[in-house]
Amino acid sequence: MKAVLLNSKESSIIVDEIPAPIHGIDEVLIALQASALNHRDVWISKGLYAKIQYPVIPGSDGAGIVISSSTKQTPLGSRVLINPNINWEENTSIQSSRYEILGMPSQGTMAEMISVPAHRVHPIPEHLTFEQAAALPLAGLTAYRVAFTKGLIQSGNTVLITGIGGGVALMAMQFALAAGAKVYVTSGSQTKIDKAMQLGASGGALYTVANWAKKLIGEIPNGFDCIIDSAGGPEWSNLTSLITMGGRLVFYGATLGNVPDLSLQRLFWKQITICGSTMGNDAEFEMMLHFCEHHRIVPIIDSMFSIDEAELAFAHLDKGQQFGKIILHHGQKGS
Ligand SMILES: NC(=O)c1ccc[n+]([C@@H]2O[C@H](COP(=O)([O-])OP(=O)(O)OC[C@H]3O[C@@H](n4cnc5c(N)ncnc54)[C@H](OP(=O)(O)O)[C@@H]3O)[C@@H](O)[C@H]2O)c1
Repeated sequence: MKAVLLNSKESSIIVDEIPAPIHGIDEVLIALQASALNHRDVWISKGLYAKIQYPVIPGSDGAGIVISSSTKQTPLGSRVLINPNINWEENTSIQSSRYEILGMPSQGTMAEMISVPAHRVHPIPEHLTFEQAAALPLAGLTAYRVAFTKGLIQSGNTVLITGIGGGVALMAMQFALAAGAKVYVTSGSQTKIDKAMQLGASGGALYTVANWAKKLIGEIPNGFDCIIDSAGGPEWSNLTSLITMGGRLVFYGATLGNVPDLSLQRLFWKQITICGSTMGNDAEFEMMLHFCEHHRIVPIIDSMFSIDEAELAFAHLDKGQQFGKIILHHGQKGS
């Protein structure tokens, strides 16, 4: 079968023929129709991820058709997507020490086929195409936990989501809006802020402009109930000035590195809760799917590439110009 391969951090991203996966007991074999990129895949391609084991077939997000199955729950021909959690296990608060994410070290979804345990697959919500379904798993799960389990977002809350061009950020915005929150965003691009406002955001600020936080304080003088961030870095302490008394600051990434200085006085005086968050448990994955079905949420797709164009797709994500998910289609577009 055809698959995307990363052989070392020095080598380029290639597409090659490899043996089809061996179909284990209690597993389902899926003919993947689409996969999606996450920043994780770019980090792995650059050797910037913990415990990398090459060669890697990347990809944590996949949607396709069941072509071999021994369980009644997933009959042949079912349209399915894959929960990328491996071994979260029973503690819903934190992942186990055996936790992994699909797509390194296990085979990922950027291939024509994958065999996964039957309990990892779920029916694709009926309103979604394969490409839209492939956009959902990792970003949707991360965004769901960040927005609801940690961010406790409710109708009427004011929410700030930074770096709205990001896959998780945009999904978190769609979830927060569907829950009835008033959402503001930041971005390095005015075009992305405008697009977010077309989707329902109330306003935004360019983080590339000096004093960007002041613009947002002007709009929400009492501060935001919840802020969602994955950038971190030197500007992070601005976020604590933008939070309301007793507000929540939830972060799931550190794209710009650690925070060099932080006013602890502001944190304790404003009684701010700071939460880290990673992926989500299996129950949250199911709740995320139900939430999307109930609110007819369609993930925003930035662009689609064929699996043969994987290198271009990785370069596109690395440039950070996307608004939404970047998809690899493995068959017919929109099938
Ligand atoms: N813990 C987890 O489970 C988990 C899950 C998923 C992702 N992550 C991490 O979260 C981060 C984002 O992942 P992703 O897949 O959503 O990435 P992505 O789609 O590549 O998006 C990254 C976004 O970061 C934003 N950004 C860049 N500089 C920024 C700044 N100074 N302030 C605010 N935002 C800035 C950009 O937003 P604009 O384009 O709008 O400027 C960019 O679109 C990565 O570090 C990733 O590793 C963690």
